Amino acid sequence: MILITGGAGYIGSHINKLLNKSGYDTLVLDNLVKGHEEAVKWGKFVNVDLGDENELKSVFETYDIEAVMHFAAFSSVAESVQEPEKYFKNNYENTRNLLKVMNEFGVKRIIFSSTAALYGIPETVPIKEDAPLQPINPYGESKLMVENLLKDESDFRGLKYVSLRYFNAAGADIDCEIGENHNPESHLIPLVLDAAIGKRDSISIFGDDYNTDDGTCVRDYIHVEDLADAHLKALQYLEEPFNDSNVFNLGNGSGFSVREVIDTCKKVTGVDFEVKTEGRREGDPDILIADAAKAREILKWEPKYPDLEDIVETAWNWHKKLNSNYIA
Ligand code: UFG
Repeated sequence: MILITGGAGYIGSHINKLLNKSGYDTLVLDNLVKGHEEAVKWGKFVNVDLGDENELKSVFETYDIEAVMHFAAFSSVAESVQEPEKYFKNNYENTRNLLKVMNEFGVKRIIFSSTAALYGIPETVPIKEDAPLQPINPYGESKLMVENLLKDESDFRGLKYVSLRYFNAAGADIDCEIGENHNPESHLIPLVLDAAIGKRDSISIFGDDYNTDDGTCVRDYIHVEDLADAHLKALQYLEEPFNDSNVFNLGNGSGFSVREVIDTCKKVTGVDFEVKTEGRREGDPDILIADAAKAREILKWEPKYPDLEDIVETAWNWHKKLNSNYIA
């Protein structure tokens, strides 16, 4: 059985679906602080907090866990700047607990949900895995601390891990059964779709004086189904006894500016709405684009939905379903 921490959240729920479709038994562990129980439509579910070591031990006693996919974390960069302690406790300390209990029960494989935030403001793009790790906010710092911990556990305690550094996760399940549902929402695409559906009056661009073609930030948007597929491939990679711990970037290798994302959302939804320009949001790098050649080569990972319109289309289908009360 595969344990999925944070499996009631956005990315974890998509991996839960894919693993079940691929013949794996899953156990979702989530404290539902951010996750949604209704997103756990496959496998078993336990409402447990990773900070509660005794509860965690009883989960490992009860279920035959062969590997762990670890998503449970807070993920708002802005909030991490306001409340850093929360991030070090939830993202780092709780992962330490998890690794301790895994070690106690002889569970030796883990796939970790890491982030492009580790690179901070990159010196060159596209970004390779060996670029300097210099996070500029507590969120990225907490994830880097976990990567360092994983490396130690791998070097000295026989743990095998794969750390997957996502760029901008976007889109939704193509069958529209699950999707993004953050509360409060801070991510660009769902906020733009809120404007399209009439939940907000307008969308604000945070800064148009960046060093990019149109002055707005450029990001590499990667479909959540492609992320899910990379996790499945990472699990299969760790099932091979001779494969070592490893780290992979996950992105499409192409960047879209905030303006391009907004225009694509207008095109896909067929709705026009007001676009305002505000000052910069703290801690936003100009450009983040992945070099994911390593994942393509070693994991044989090939994104199926690299087209931004396809990504927005699936996000829009889900957004309409989630907000059906806004549709006249
Ligand atoms: N943006 C706007 N207006 C908005 C919301 C966002 O202009 O209302 C801009 C942001 O300033 C940024 C871009 O849209 O330039 C994308 O912002 P998101 O919040 O959607 O995503 P981020 O790039 O900030 O964050 C993502 C993940 C984080 C991760 C980070 C790595 O959500 O978890 O990438 O850099 F840490």
